[in-house]
Amino acid sequence: MRPDISEWPLLLVSAELNASTDDGFRLRELAAALKEEQHCGVIPSFTYEDAVEVFASRSDLGAVVIDWDLPLDDDGERLRPEELLGLIRLRNRRIPVLLLTDRLETEALPESALSGIDDCLWKTADTPGFIAGRIAVHIKNYLKGIMPEFFGKLVCYSELYKYAWHTPGHLGGQGFLRAPAGVALYKFFGENTFRADLSISVPELGSLLDHEGAVGDAERASARVFGADRTYYVLNGTSTVNQIIWRSQVLPGDLAYVDRNCHKSLNYAMVITEAVPVYMIPRRNARGIIGPVKLEEFSGDFIASRVAAHPLVPAAARKRRFRMSALTNSTYDGLCYNVSRIKRELGKHVDNLHFDEAWYAYAKFHPLYRGHFGMTDDGVKSDDPPVFCSQSTHKLLTAFSQASMLHIRNGGSRAIDPVLFNESYMMHGSTSPQYQMIASLDVATRMMEESGETLIGDIIREAIRLRRKVAAIRRDRVRQGDWFFGMWQPERIAVGGGTCDFADADEEQLATEQNVWVLSRDNNWHGFADIEDDYVMLDPIKLTVTTPGIDDAGRMDTEVGIPASIVTDYLIKHNIVCEKTDYYSFLLLNSLGTTRAKQGSLLAALFKFKELYDSGAPLCEGAPELVRNFPERYSGLTLREHCDAMHRHIVEHDLLGKMHAAFEVIPKPVFTPADAYHHVVAGKVESVRLADLSGRIAGVMLVPYPPGIPILMGGEQVDDSARPILDYLLAREEFENAFPGYESDIHGVERERTGGRTFFRTLAIK
Ligand SMILES: Cc1ncc(COP(=O)(O)O)c(C=O)c1O
Repeated sequence: MRPDISEWPLLLVSAELNASTDDGFRLRELAAALKEEQHCGVIPSFTYEDAVEVFASRSDLGAVVIDWDLPLDDDGERLRPEELLGLIRLRNRRIPVLLLTDRLETEALPESALSGIDDCLWKTADTPGFIAGRIAVHIKNYLKGIMPEFFGKLVCYSELYKYAWHTPGHLGGQGFLRAPAGVALYKFFGENTFRADLSISVPELGSLLDHEGAVGDAERASARVFGADRTYYVLNGTSTVNQIIWRSQVLPGDLAYVDRNCHKSLNYAMVITEAVPVYMIPRRNARGIIGPVKLEEFSGDFIASRVAAHPLVPAAARKRRFRMSALTNSTYDGLCYNVSRIKRELGKHVDNLHFDEAWYAYAKFHPLYRGHFGMTDDGVKSDDPPVFCSQSTHKLLTAFSQASMLHIRNGGSRAIDPVLFNESYMMHGSTSPQYQMIASLDVATRMMEESGETLIGDIIREAIRLRRKVAAIRRDRVRQGDWFFGMWQPERIAVGGGTCDFADADEEQLATEQNVWVLSRDNNWHGFADIEDDYVMLDPIKLTVTTPGIDDAGRMDTEVGIPASIVTDYLIKHNIVCEKTDYYSFLLLNSLGTTRAKQGSLLAALFKFKELYDSGAPLCEGAPELVRNFPERYSGLTLREHCDAMHRHIVEHDLLGKMHAAFEVIPKPVFTPADAYHHVVAGKVESVRLADLSGRIAGVMLVPYPPGIPILMGGEQVDDSARPILDYLLAREEFENAFPGYESDIHGVERERTGGRTFFRTLAIK
């Protein structure tokens, strides 16, 4: 359905609306004429300040009428109408804003307002019916332009009610109506979902696979907005984006320089391209949070030594450039690289740079992130290689799940040929694309183009308010000898010549000064002792909440600790789902979908957990399901005793130390990931218990969460030097046996239950 004026109400800002005055009477007549004659609702706002709030919280307004005659106070404390207009324009350049007056003469209309308004209405000069009609015309014109082109065409097409003789077979949903289950599905999703589900044989919408017509135009608009030379819409997620990029450039035997902290889809990209990976090793702090790769790992000498030591790189190939590099930007915990520095250093040694920005598609749209994203515009130099960026638009912007973008910026002397590139694109694309997903990418682009800075600015500020709130609560509690959860963030902020507590820092400074978030050695709240200057920043919207048990310097409290998994399990029971759980921290993401109510519920739940913990409440109150499922292990315990027991186990078994040691090792590769996979296909692998893995070669990659980095890749050998890896995995097995109900995700591991114990098994090459 095309936007209809009845669903786009007018915001009418006037203190007179309910007043027993002539103005009030006329305004009520205007509201009635709008409703009865134009079918347009009116949302009243009685002050300019309230209007700011209403406007920020609603994007479904069709127009704003501002009564310019409201009385202003003399001390200038209250907002002025031109300031309201300015704030509206920051959020929306297009919405009609109409000035309503009675007192102002034409020559007295303020210049500051004239450039931002679309029309002036004199309260007494025309009839209410005429004014209402004029407002309705503005709204209708505005609504014609709010849909970006592809989405608009999709809506128009679905309104033609054509008889379709093509796929999808449900034909606008009709097929579903033939059976009750189908009717239920149809009713749940609504008619438009089905009418907009079209076949690729509809020519009006262009071709995704050939990037022509309306789809091609939408991709080109996205390229312009996201700062790329070319952008491709990919409808099977960034997992597929990564594979398209690699398939387009990498041949069997090519060398690739890869962040060990890369997503599994990149590991599969190495399998399908038969690349020979050489790994960069990211740092980790004592809490276990993954940090950036050291800048020195991008220097020529360092790379040469790592390549020389690599058993699968033949001597003749050691001087070859890397065909591709891949870095995860930002890291899961929100550390974003200074991309300009990386391009300068790493760009000398690779043919193509690839930044996996699955969680970071918004960076281009707020100045806080300048210079720290792949498509950053820092001028292309003649020896810069092409840059590829993969972004899950669906993750932190607004698109349907799996809707992602692939951006390309050509190198200084090498451009990516679109015809050749498209071979890889088509190899991974379906010939039945979902048009709703394309429309959502088109709309995400429009949203960022028109109000990206404001929208991203809003979520940055909301995240900052939550950060400050948690810091303030914690400071107060600690002063009283009590405890509270913390935030992984600077404790002190530089202000003028001195510093202040994060909790007291100015919101404006935190939301606009990049420097606050750039990691430095002097202010080592982050725990990466050897961090380079001006190299990485923390993204304020990625919120890592810390739990007691370990301090920022990495010292374990040997007595008291609250493992994060107990807290996040509790939060899940209260419908608060976290993104990632580490040993003593968990990650929350602030995104366009985050509301203040969500933040309030989170704080309330954290307080409730604290109360249960402090008051010695039984575990069955904090984790009823756990006690119900494993009564022999957990009944009779308090929540606090449970936390103590798990914390003691982590300390006594040195789980953090073992994790640290395990990720320092890159085991000897005997086969490339592709060769290892070929063994899997040929059935030349067998399932073995982890305890028996010593000396064997892994058939598939093993990725334990936390921290979510491959600890072992297919083809790597568990020899003596890789002993720390085995020790860590066996310690995890032991942990799960000691704490049933806390099974963590370990990609590549199967669990065997024998004699009341769990054993980890994985595939080893025969
Ligand atoms: C760094 C990284 N890259 C790629 C992906 C895959 O993204 P998608 O879920 O869009 O396929 C993920 C998913 O979590 C990721 O974390």
